[in-house]
Amino acid sequence: MNIVKVNASTAYEVMIGGGLLSCLGQETAKVAKVGKAAIVSDSNVWPLYGVAAKKSLENAGFSVISFVFPAGESSKSGATYLELMNFLAKNHVTRSDCLVALGGGVVGDLTGFAAATYLRGISYIQVPTTLLAAVDSSVGGKTAIDLECGKNLVGAFYQPKLVLCDTDTLNTLSVDIFRDGCAEVIKYGILYDPQLFSHLQEHGLSFDRETVITRCVELKRDVVAEDEFDTGSRMKLNLGHTVGHGVEAGSHYGVSHGKAVAIGMAIVSRGAAAQGICNRETADRIVMLLQQFGLPTATEFTCDVLYDAALSDKKRSGGIVNLIVPKAIGDCVIVPTPVEALKTFIREGL
Ligand code: GLY
Repeated sequence: MNIVKVNASTAYEVMIGGGLLSCLGQETAKVAKVGKAAIVSDSNVWPLYGVAAKKSLENAGFSVISFVFPAGESSKSGATYLELMNFLAKNHVTRSDCLVALGGGVVGDLTGFAAATYLRGISYIQVPTTLLAAVDSSVGGKTAIDLECGKNLVGAFYQPKLVLCDTDTLNTLSVDIFRDGCAEVIKYGILYDPQLFSHLQEHGLSFDRETVITRCVELKRDVVAEDEFDTGSRMKLNLGHTVGHGVEAGSHYGVSHGKAVAIGMAIVSRGAAAQGICNRETADRIVMLLQQFGLPTATEFTCDVLYDAALSDKKRSGGIVNLIVPKAIGDCVIVPTPVEALKTFIREGL
């Protein structure tokens, strides 16, 4: 088992290892008052891990209630959020109680936002059960729900009290969902770590999960410590996301987040090579690694569709979109790109 300590506005630990779910209650009791714990989960995860999570919390003295919603991005909505708020209020959850997010990115983001706003803020624990949530969304305190106009448009920065990642829960993921998380893992290699990139080239999908997740969380810890509120260097974690969100939105979320980000990273890498920001070999290595993991690197969406969607990206400021672009493996830059130039960039990367 590995522990990574995150030093954000509140400090907390990310615990990573096999079998940790059975320690959920005991670890939660160390960071939250033993009272009511409301587990928030979805219809995929609850039947697999709900009983174990509940039992562990009860054994530690918590009185447990649960809120389970239909799995899928469409549940990350204002409607589910309000349902959850009402559920908490009806069950008399107080400020000294806590929420437990048991699931992937949708569960974590929604629960985090609920925790940030219910009674103006109560404690919450992240228990990520997908690779994507383990390496990215459960760490760093970004919480959100979606609007019809776009993803994550309502949210708050609100750090959890603990992230407990039981790597055994990844065993029940389909290869396809696991691949989705691999896109985010590859992203860390491109952004910061040539060794991680080579390790992934060498091992493919059978990389050691505990080691690789720990490395990604360490990298994210450093980013969050430097720029918790996403005004500078944290923006780099958006590599592939500007175009990727366009693919996701254009497909009405039929293309999953990880695959959309993979397409976005491929497009931005080819665009960077075309513009002389990185060499062709770098772009080729990135595209080849994504393909090695069975991730898509091209889209049928036109440049115009992707461009329109990119304009609603949160990283846009006035007429400038902050595009994250690889210079080399492990070295990416934020390129403030005027919206007129963005279209050329996307076209050259398609
Ligand atoms: N998922 C990107 C970030 O946490 O900044």
